[in-house]
Amino acid sequence: MTNNNKQLVVLGSINVDHILNVPAFPQAGQTITGQHYQLAFGGKGANQAVAASRSGANTAFIACLGSDAIADDILMQFTQDGINLQSVHKVPEQTTGVALIFVNREAENCIGIYAGANAFLDKSYVKKHANQIRQADALLLQLETPLDSLLEAVKIAKAAGKMVVLNPAPAQTLSTDFLQQIDLITPNETEASQLTGIQVKDLSSAEQAAQILHDKGILNVMITLGEHGVWLSQNRQGQHIPAFKVHAVDTTGAGDTFNGALMTALLEGQGFIDACYFASAAAALAVTKAGAQPSIPWRAEIEKFLINFK
Ligand code: ATP
Ligand code: RIB
Repeated sequence: MTNNNKQLVVLGSINVDHILNVPAFPQAGQTITGQHYQLAFGGKGANQAVAASRSGANTAFIACLGSDAIADDILMQFTQDGINLQSVHKVPEQTTGVALIFVNREAENCIGIYAGANAFLDKSYVKKHANQIRQADALLLQLETPLDSLLEAVKIAKAAGKMVVLNPAPAQTLSTDFLQQIDLITPNETEASQLTGIQVKDLSSAEQAAQILHDKGILNVMITLGEHGVWLSQNRQGQHIPAFKVHAVDTTGAGDTFNGALMTALLEGQGFIDACYFASAAAALAVTKAGAQPSIPWRAEIEKFLINFK
């Protein structure tokens, strides 16, 4: 843990992940046998809150759970992870969100989600928890909860002069009105392609996509490129931050770990380049283990990893 007293608020989804390791993704009409099955806690919002808290940020979470039995286990895990749960509530007669995940031999994933209680994180829920946003120094969002509630959260954060960071996942088309209020955006290749119309497949296309995101009014852009690292672009000046070389077994949650750890570093006052390396180290550690939340590293692990790589 650090001595940093800056506050992060994450608003987003909670899922129960059912993960099946398969030799290759199934074709339409095909039944395949998995080699390993794991039930793990996930959801982009939850993963990012866990990654931020484990890496040292003072983290509050705004989210909805179902009223099923597994919700209690998830809440217990969040408590052990040190997350402020004042704005996490159970929705009566709803199930907690679910993600069905195939992981292939190349450690890639293919995911289907059911929103469940996440669909109830609506505008009125955000308004009810507006103080949590106003009290924080930064707001971190993804796209697995209703879009109009995200707009409301951004409005509240910007009116209070807070930093807003958007991880635009899963990929979705977004209005320029929404995008221009974002201080930092962190799409992966697919999301950057969807937002800009540029097929992001290498550094040069990442640079082009970043310029289009700047044109839309976003000052800071980090396009994550999986094992190829990150294209970091600030105020139109771009550079490549390579990834750490590790043996990946499951990349699920790599982006979430990157975003959570990134917020920790930024709130500690690290510059964008150092924060990017810190987040990349956390994400590299995450891909060496299976599952989303089970693979998210703690601060001490990240620091040890960074020292060993120097
Ligand atoms: P997810 O699989 O969770 O959806 P994502 O597509 O949002 O991930 P990526 O761009 O795949 O995000 O990864 C985010 C960051 O994680 C990368 O920029 C990189 O730093 C790190 N990372 C991802 N895959 C690897 C890998 N195979 N080896 C090392 N680092 C990796
Ligand atoms: O980003 C990984 C997450 O996406 C998984 O935990 C799953 O719940 C899906 O939301």
